[in-house]
Amino acid sequence: MYDSGKIIPGLIIFVLFVTFPVWYNHGDAGAVPKPELPKVAKKCVLPVAQMRDEHMQLLLDWRAEVLRQGEWGFIKIDGKPFQRSLQNACLKCHSNKKKFCDTCHTYAAVNPYCWDCHFARVKK
Ligand code: HEC
Ligand code: HEC
Ligand code: HEC
Repeated sequence: MYDSGKIIPGLIIFVLFVTFPVWYNHGDAGAVPKPELPKVAKKCVLPVAQMRDEHMQLLLDWRAEVLRQGEWGFIKIDGKPFQRSLQNACLKCHSNKKKFCDTCHTYAAVNPYCWDCHFARVKK
């Protein structure tokens, strides 16, 4: 017969052992995200630290300017023109949403609803 007195504690130890990385990190994925940066350009719309902190607000400002004030055109930042557009600006450089936007958002557990309507691919 099986020796259940040894199998059960053995199983418990086994389960604790294989799940150790999960509960040790409090269920977090652990590693900080490394978004894949674009090769088509060296600089973002704003300095990188500012983009990290303020990209949500920048997008909402652009949206308001386009939809409320009808400013479809380009905006000049530091002498360089950018179209006020999620798809035709952000995703033109950051063409891989999954390896860029999503790496951080998954980590930070934010789920922007923008993609319900906006395409995550660049118009060809
Ligand atoms: C219910 C659908 C819907 C959702 C959700 C939505 N948008 Fe939009 N958005 C639109 C439509 C429609 C336009 C008008 C421009 C167009 O037709 O392409 C627009 C335009 C914009 C524009 C300016 C034009 C452009 O090409 O990007 C920005 C920037 C923008 N949205 C950002 C956002 C962001 C950021 C979010 C998420 C926080 C978001 N939108 C969520 C429907 C949506
Ligand atoms: C002209 C190409 C270009 C456009 C347009 C662009 N980006 Fe960037 N973005 C970059 C580059 C290049 C970097 C890395 C810059 C660096 O490391 O100094 C970057 C960095 C970032 C970062 C910081 C990443 C990190 O590692 O912390 C965020 C967030 C970001 N971009 C979001 C956006 C959003 C949102 C938009 C649209 C409003 C946008 N970008 C438009 C090229 C672009
Ligand atoms: C360096 C990490 C990082 C990258 C890369 C990044 N984001 Fe974010 N994003 C965040 C964080 C963190 C938040 C939540 C911020 C908060 O709640 O204050 C956020 C929030 C947002 C929000 C607001 C969502 C909400 O529900 O409040 C939008 C819109 C957004 N990001 C768009 C983008 C787009 C588009 C890209 C890719 C072009 C992108 N982000 C890339 C870190 C990142």
